[in-house]
Amino acid sequence: MHAQLQTHTAGSRLCFNGIGKTFPGVKALDGIRFTAYPGQVHALMGENGAGKSTLLKILGGAYLPSSGTLQIGEQTLTFKSAADSIASGVAVIHQELHLVPEMSVAENLFLGHLPSRFGVVNRGVLRQQALACLKGLADEIDPEEKLGRLSLGQRQLVEIAKALSRGAHVIAFDEPTSSLSAREIDRLMAIIARLRDEGKVVLYVSHRMEEVFRICDAVTVFKDGRYVRTFDDMSALTHDQLVTCMVGRDIQDIYDYRPREHGEVALKVQGLLGPGLREPVSFEVRKGEILGLFGLVGAGRTELFRLLSGLERATAGDLQLCGNTLQLRSPRDAIAAGVLLCPEDRKKEGIIPLSSVAENINISARGDHCAFGWLLREGWEKGNAAQQIQAMKVKTPSAAQKIMYLSGGNQQKAILGRWLSMPMKVLLLDEPTRGIDIGAKAEIYQIIHHLAAQGIAVIVVSSDLMEVMGICDRILVLCEGALRGEACRAEATESNLLQLALPRGPAN
Ligand SMILES: Nc1ncnc2c1ncn2[C@@H]1O[C@H](COP(=O)(O)OP(=O)(O)OP(=O)(O)O)[C@@H](O)[C@H]1O
Ligand SMILES: [Mg+2]
Repeated sequence: MHAQLQTHTAGSRLCFNGIGKTFPGVKALDGIRFTAYPGQVHALMGENGAGKSTLLKILGGAYLPSSGTLQIGEQTLTFKSAADSIASGVAVIHQELHLVPEMSVAENLFLGHLPSRFGVVNRGVLRQQALACLKGLADEIDPEEKLGRLSLGQRQLVEIAKALSRGAHVIAFDEPTSSLSAREIDRLMAIIARLRDEGKVVLYVSHRMEEVFRICDAVTVFKDGRYVRTFDDMSALTHDQLVTCMVGRDIQDIYDYRPREHGEVALKVQGLLGPGLREPVSFEVRKGEILGLFGLVGAGRTELFRLLSGLERATAGDLQLCGNTLQLRSPRDAIAAGVLLCPEDRKKEGIIPLSSVAENINISARGDHCAFGWLLREGWEKGNAAQQIQAMKVKTPSAAQKIMYLSGGNQQKAILGRWLSMPMKVLLLDEPTRGIDIGAKAEIYQIIHHLAAQGIAVIVVSSDLMEVMGICDRILVLCEGALRGEACRAEATESNLLQLALPRGPAN
């Protein structure tokens, strides 16, 4: 079927002809050359900083390439602005969506060409046009709703609807699923399949192997800004081949699990209740132990972390840290006691875009080093930033680079480095490897093992079952705001964890 579609719309394939892009001190792309065909979903993969987002920004007219051209069908093009790109039938769905939260869905859809009569926006026509635009994509969205009130998944659908209403025939997605729920992901996959079947060129950037194997017809791999290879027969491609191609080496066992001795109880939680928890929660974690918290979206994992880190006040229960009562009135109390939370949305909650990488790493730990006077502090800061950049393998031209210029995954790694620069007894990690490439994942697992080996108790929340089973000594399963059960490493299997995590229907 795909072959037929190709001959059908053979005019509109998309070629990258030697695209290069240089930023001061960084060669982000170098001679990128490959073709994406209509009626196919073409994945772009590669490690953090490989240049995937930069290529999409060039395709979307946000950056001018330093060399090379684009070709759509027979036309050779260089986009000088986003408007050029749109006029050529291209839509790029960036990870940071380009919509206005304060405006309604309908206004966002037709921004710049709102239907008006005598200078007054015609609300009736606007609503009709918006409904037509959303039909079949997101029928449940009310065009008059403020965009800011929609879920991230719904906002993405608005952006897709907007692209389609402009007649886009090349649609590129940059890590579209990184903040979506499982259900939203399924819906997005169905929409992408539809776009493919309508003969559009779809580019798909993701670090998630299972998605790439599920939806894509071809994969192009980049490394350090260069084209490595295109695989166009997904049925002949194995997971390991793709990983090896991306990382440039074999990753034997990315989890690299080593058993450790566990010490005394580090954190003891008894009868804890609070927002998001339906039943009292009790458990303990020992020094040197890596404890997993598994559950589906809405199970209460993040809520439990908010209670343990003082972001939310508990309504009942008590906490003990190394045998002493722990009172948490605010996050400050938790940090002072050595209970640290590295939040899920590190990017949104943690980045200071205009500051340097070093500043972003040092900002939280610096208080502890103030007492030494500023000269000493400056020395400490330099050393700490350099150490974290090296440990987390943050790809940056220097510690002084503004963090906003780093690739998405490298920003994540730098912020993780911020948390790891602080003294701690218990580390709460919420989705530590989201948005991070597979090579960097392996490195983060090593860092987690290393911290545990130093006697720190680590609790990891993850929705990646393989990750939980791969790195944890013991796993607690949450479901609908209650603890459902636990499994030690040896007992944990995919099916028994999922069974515990799935909500039970009404008893019959
Ligand atoms: N505006 C910019 N100024 C300076 N350097 C930049 C800029 N944009 C990107 N870079 C650099 O270009 C390189 C490629 O970045 P890009 O964002 O394209 O990577 P990526 O493949 O999307 O990575 P990730 O998987 O982490 O999102 C990185 O080294 C990044 O630091
Ligand atoms: Mg990127």
